[in-house]
Amino acid sequence: MKIFIDSANLDEIRKAANIGILDGCTTNPTLILKEGKDYKKTLKEICGIVKGHVSAETVSLNAEGMVKEGKEFAKIAKNIVIKVPMTPEGMKACRILTKSGIKVNTTLVFSANQALLAAKAGSYLVSPFIGRLDDIGEKGTELIREIRQVYDNYGFKSLILAASIRNTEHVKEVAMLGADIATMPFKVYEELFNHKLTDAGIKKFLDDWNKLQKELKKK
Ligand code: E4P
Repeated sequence: MKIFIDSANLDEIRKAANIGILDGCTTNPTLILKEGKDYKKTLKEICGIVKGHVSAETVSLNAEGMVKEGKEFAKIAKNIVIKVPMTPEGMKACRILTKSGIKVNTTLVFSANQALLAAKAGSYLVSPFIGRLDDIGEKGTELIREIRQVYDNYGFKSLILAASIRNTEHVKEVAMLGADIATMPFKVYEELFNHKLTDAGIKKFLDDWNKLQKELKKK
């Protein structure tokens, strides 16, 4: 499973890129608003840091507008993927952009039927939002299981990008359910590395190494 960061914060993105376990990045207007910087400039800077795919979200409500925005964003860098919403107009735009060689990420997917339509429209990435389903009392990760089954039944090539991830348990679950990609906030990314037994183990080994040095000095 590929690991993406769901952020427009350059420091966070750089930190993850420096560790080297970072396959891509997703952004949206909310994340870019948080940074308070120019939309396209931010995308360009992210593309300079991240080697994998970087998703840029369109905001038009009609296909024509989405295609226009998508073509503009695609000029920013080779690794840009255009986000369109799961609507009839979004799927129209998806087909047009895909045909013209621009990769699309269908966003705001909340059902297996929507994911089926996105795959039929040729979407390269499909983003089910699991945290937002949890927020309305559903089990978001169930959607990953359903979409995996539908895509495997028919051999759809669209990649399942589990989005709206809120915690490390989500990451583990979507990995076990066969998501192709998980995109997560930097806080969740950082937490993936942690385990209290790792910390305790490092401390014990270090203490013993120091004890050994003292003993060797006495000899
Ligand atoms: C993914 O592409 C979205 O940007 C993101 O995962 C949405 O997450 P949220 O529900 O935490 O806003």
